[in-house]
Amino acid sequence: MWMTHIVAFCLLALAASAEEKKLSSHAATLADSSATLAFRLYHSMAKEKDTENILISPVVVASSLGMVALGGKSSTASQVKTVLSVDKLKDEHLHAGLSELLSEVSDAKTRNTTWKISSRLYGPSSVTFADDFVKNSKKHYNYDHSKINLRDKRSAVNSINEWAAKATDGKLPEITKDVQNPDGAMIVNAMYWKPHWDETFNDKMVDDRSFLVTRSFSVGIPMMHRTGLYDFHDDTENRIFVLNMPLGQKQASLIIIMPYLLEPLARLEKLLSRKQVDTWISKMENKAVAISLPKIAMEVSHNLQKHLAELGLTEAVDKSKADLSNISGKKDLYLSNVFHASALELDVQGNPFDNSIYGSGKLSNPKLFYADHPFIFLVKDNKTNSILYIGRVVKPKGDKIRDEL
Ligand SMILES: *[C@@H]1O[C@H](CO)[C@@H](O)[C@H](O)[C@H]1NC(C)=O
Ligand SMILES: *[C@@H]1O[C@H](CO)[C@@H](O)[C@H](O)[C@H]1NC(C)=O
Ligand SMILES: *[C@@H]1O[C@H](CO)[C@@H](O)[C@H](O)[C@H]1NC(C)=O
Repeated sequence: MWMTHIVAFCLLALAASAEEKKLSSHAATLADSSATLAFRLYHSMAKEKDTENILISPVVVASSLGMVALGGKSSTASQVKTVLSVDKLKDEHLHAGLSELLSEVSDAKTRNTTWKISSRLYGPSSVTFADDFVKNSKKHYNYDHSKINLRDKRSAVNSINEWAAKATDGKLPEITKDVQNPDGAMIVNAMYWKPHWDETFNDKMVDDRSFLVTRSFSVGIPMMHRTGLYDFHDDTENRIFVLNMPLGQKQASLIIIMPYLLEPLARLEKLLSRKQVDTWISKMENKAVAISLPKIAMEVSHNLQKHLAELGLTEAVDKSKADLSNISGKKDLYLSNVFHASALELDVQGNPFDNSIYGSGKLSNPKLFYADHPFIFLVKDNKTNSILYIGRVVKPKGDKIRDEL
């Protein structure tokens, strides 16, 4: 009898703790809009000719937009809501919701993932940051602020890069080589992300392989290998594999979308939409998969200014129209650069797992997932449904090992 009581009590306690951790409706709305933003931004970046690898955190972009809304007035501020497709949301709900979402997904303790996010707003030497703005952008978005003399370009670039290196424990040594338009304000996000797999790779199952960048060009990289049970979908019509690799204690997963064979990603990118990804996910089945994945570090830095303008943030980035006067009390600023940079490390570390699976027969005849050619990936959060990262690996670092034709 008392046992039943204890069980009932424990169940109640569990229900209560799950209840109190539930996302507020505003945060849930913004998680959803960050997922929409992810695909729009990805497509805007992917159509640039010179872009190779892509690595964007839509949640962090959304919080930078929140910071712009905090500093902006009238249509400069309201455009932020349009870009996030939350036109009707009140200001206070926008800030509180984004703030809640960011702290939920970046909490290293509950997430079991290394994700260092540092964000800074640089203003020209002439600017005076308003106290309220400094306080609120720190509180909601963990932004700090700094003045910089961008007319002395060399030392400005050095100082930005030094800050980013320090903020990421040296993982991101360079955000930019140059700064255009020295008269504006500048957003800089510097991040370091390293997943911890739900099931670890064996560090002895790593060897040197080649990654095919194009038919005539490959680079040497270390490849890690493991066979396990994964959610997997073979889209035979589109000749694409979709694989779900859970992270931490399944709070998030890395979803990889890869053509069967080497080809430019343009065909896959035409298919890529939020709806299509949901369809692929819904068709996944848990089965044995033999995975070979590059064990690589990748640093990617984007200037999002132009892309955000393309998505509708036209005023904040326009010197003649921007009203960011809640930042300084004066209408003297516009956004001249939005640097968004991440270091990503794919490595073997993860949780130990039940080895008896090897003798169980469940892993016989695995599907082969050999990631030796360009692929697209998403880091999808399991609780909030937000997208922590979206990107593509098309050209990893490594020694060139073949260049024929
Ligand atoms: C901007 O500043 C005005 C006062 O100058 C204030 O009423 C308004 O709430 C501020 N907006 C934000 C988003 O902080
Ligand atoms: C994730 O969890 C494992 C095991 O519980 C632990 O060893 C590891 O340090 C954690 N990693 C992070 C980044 O929290
Ligand atoms: C999401 O979390 C639930 C509960 O922990 C887990 O059962 C499920 O497998 C997770 N989904 C993914 C895709 O990891």
